Amino acid sequence: CTVGVVLGGVAPEHEVSIISALQAAAALDRERYTPVPLYIAKDGTWYTGDALLEVDTYRDLDALRDAATPVALHPGGYGTLRVVEVPPESRWERLRRPPLRRDIDVMLLGLHGGPGEDGSVQGLCEAMGVPYTGSGVLGSAVGMDKGLSKQLCQQAGIPVVDFVTLRDNDWAGREDEQLTRCLDTLGLPLIVKPARLGSSIGIARADTRAALDAAIEDALRYDDKVIVEKAVSDLREINCSVLGTPTESTASVLEEPVPSAEEDVLSFQDKYMRESDNNAGGTKTGGPEGMASLDRIIPAELDDATTASIQEMAVQIFQLFECAGVARIDFMIDRATGTVYFNEINTIPGSFSFYLWEPSGIPFDELMHRTIQAAQQ
Ligand code: DAL
Ligand code: MG
Repeated sequence: CTVGVVLGGVAPEHEVSIISALQAAAALDRERYTPVPLYIAKDGTWYTGDALLEVDTYRDLDALRDAATPVALHPGGYGTLRVVEVPPESRWERLRRPPLRRDIDVMLLGLHGGPGEDGSVQGLCEAMGVPYTGSGVLGSAVGMDKGLSKQLCQQAGIPVVDFVTLRDNDWAGREDEQLTRCLDTLGLPLIVKPARLGSSIGIARADTRAALDAAIEDALRYDDKVIVEKAVSDLREINCSVLGTPTESTASVLEEPVPSAEEDVLSFQDKYMRESDNNAGGTKTGGPEGMASLDRIIPAELDDATTASIQEMAVQIFQLFECAGVARIDFMIDRATGTVYFNEINTIPGSFSFYLWEPSGIPFDELMHRTIQAAQQ
């Protein structure tokens, strides 16, 4: 079975995606699957080339491109996808070597953020009739939007912190009015996030009106929709991965990511750039370092009842969003009250959450096998 492993993407989480997708490619059981890397450069050009699989850094994007060949996607009739090398300009070159072609049976989507995690590439696959891993268009699109996700959970009776959403056309020229609306509705302190991004990019805490102003301005640089939410004062973050189909799904062990001492929101730095001992050789199965090297406590130290109720909620949310494959649902616990809040859902979680599945008894190769088996047809 030939697996098109899609990485990169026209998204701020480009580098993180390279990590996740190459880790997944390295974990594929080669007796069952042949990975064909499909790299989407930041300018949107698609590339392939087996040399991409050997890349061990996400920092040198030029090297990544140099190792690869631009390709075009050819829907080969409904249900198949053929990747064909873009012919070289020179006629001599074209005659000398036939263009590279690969037929793809299933797309393994390793993209983070939009476009990619948000249903757009899933839609492309749907339109070509080629199976793809992970959630469908609906769950991916709703899950990408932190505001809509919270509304959906709220309606299902799952606690979420108070929040407001704000669009750039509500903001420009009406800043004071909007700041007053946020402060009157929510008070301080607040957390501001771009509505449809991940990896903590553009997230800031605001303890004053001026800081809120600056945080909204900054978040609007990344997305034209922003979410402003009440900060939980004494917060624990707890994440749970879920694997399966919209009807049959299981929860992993829980993790508690540990932010660096001076921050109370996990930063991009915390997540991907921290030098850590386990960074050295990437993952056990290969691929570059990344999400898997974040400081975290696994399993999270919680009593059995709390653990079970979070796992149950995670499965409920996975099914609510009609997810498939592997997703990660992030919660917040208010230490003062013990309330567990839904924070967000990641329909393509960093490193496919393999580090949560290994201690749950499912090795990375088996995780990818199940994810491919659950691929949308
Ligand atoms: N968006 C990143 C990759 C995550 O939350 O896992
Ligand atoms: Mg996220």
